[in-house]
Amino acid sequence: MSRRKFLESISNAENSSETPRKADRPDDIKRRSDFSFTGLDADLADLADVMVEQAVGYYGVPLAVAGPLLIDGKKTMIPMATEEASVVAAATFAGNLINRHGGITTTAAEPVMMAQIFLEDLRIQGFEGVEKVISSTELVREHLKPTLSSMTRRGGGWRGMDARWIAPSRTLAVNLSIDVQDAQGANTLNSIAEELGPLLQELTGGKVLMAILSNRSWNRTASARLSIPVSALGRGGFSGGETARRIVRAARIAREDSDRAVTHNKGIMNGVSALALATGNDTRAIEAAIHAYAGRYGPYHALSEYWLEKEWLHGSLEMPLPFAVTGGAVGFHPVSRWSLTLLNQPDAPLLSRIAAALGLTQNFAALRALVSEGIQKGHMALHARKLAFEAGARGTRIDSFATIIRTENLRDRRTAARRFDEWIGGERSVRE
Ligand code: MEV
Repeated sequence: MSRRKFLESISNAENSSETPRKADRPDDIKRRSDFSFTGLDADLADLADVMVEQAVGYYGVPLAVAGPLLIDGKKTMIPMATEEASVVAAATFAGNLINRHGGITTTAAEPVMMAQIFLEDLRIQGFEGVEKVISSTELVREHLKPTLSSMTRRGGGWRGMDARWIAPSRTLAVNLSIDVQDAQGANTLNSIAEELGPLLQELTGGKVLMAILSNRSWNRTASARLSIPVSALGRGGFSGGETARRIVRAARIAREDSDRAVTHNKGIMNGVSALALATGNDTRAIEAAIHAYAGRYGPYHALSEYWLEKEWLHGSLEMPLPFAVTGGAVGFHPVSRWSLTLLNQPDAPLLSRIAAALGLTQNFAALRALVSEGIQKGHMALHARKLAFEAGARGTRIDSFATIIRTENLRDRRTAARRFDEWIGGERSVRE
């Protein structure tokens, strides 16, 4: 749906009998859709300049709002920044169906992240080194108390330590687990890991090679689950039962065939990465974590599962989702602030749960389309609008000319541009 149509439709929703929660009120969304929050070009240039070095400008990616998705009983409008057509429409379309059958339920684990300190040239090697570090756990914990005090006061902080001997490279890896609360954790963990270096050197007689957080994030998982009666699933000439059977089979193939699993998981990330970008989160950290998780049993496999039970299709997804609501670009970039406001200022575990729900919705939408009418059909309308833009249409003309493109089955840029000139010419002469 175009921005104009979307804003019109949410205006119509004003008359609906439902009372949307604060963030869903059409006025709020309209106000927040006013792109003036990004300020002047000069402001954006300065923003780019303070965010990265050698900035030459900024790159605008479409920002959209999908939903509402019913997540744990709450209607949630979800900000998504993506360059890919159909992704937002697919989430909203599938979300409508899922919402009618109870929505999505989610869970999130504690936001525990890991930092690693690698030591080489050790006086005590192998298991002796491991034992020395493990038996010094309390000492290390005491050492870090002042640094972790504010995080501990907020309910996070120290969660444990272990060590591992990496025999081939004769290196000792010391792994610290810290509950980072609402942050992604990179800054805190990197500082802690660096701070701990001298003490570990003293304990082991080794030298620090490097100290850095691990993006593995396997403790920081979130999960989502949906259930839909098979009778509601029919599409593209397939009955509900047959569509459900095909979805289960397609998802099973993605657990058994790595080539397919990569694309299956990419579909999940269409939602997750778009939410990550809209909220200013580190998309690469999240992507690295989920792909590692998908390969944790050996062959790379699908992160979601679907099964049938008593005429209901059930789907579930579990993956690391290290989303933050503060730190770095999160809460600093104006679009990130806007997105977090739209989401009613969630804490990090809630944002991770929303990401899991969106990932599962996106995955369900893709599978249902793939096993019924295919995904190309849905793309045609958006393709026509892009072609209309390329042909020169702007504003309200985009939708009108896209209709002509579809009716006349215009396929390439040049034909569309020629037809647009003709159409515009006709429009002008009618006015004259
Ligand atoms: C396209 O961006 C995503 C899909 O390929 C996902 C999938 O195949 O499951 C449609």
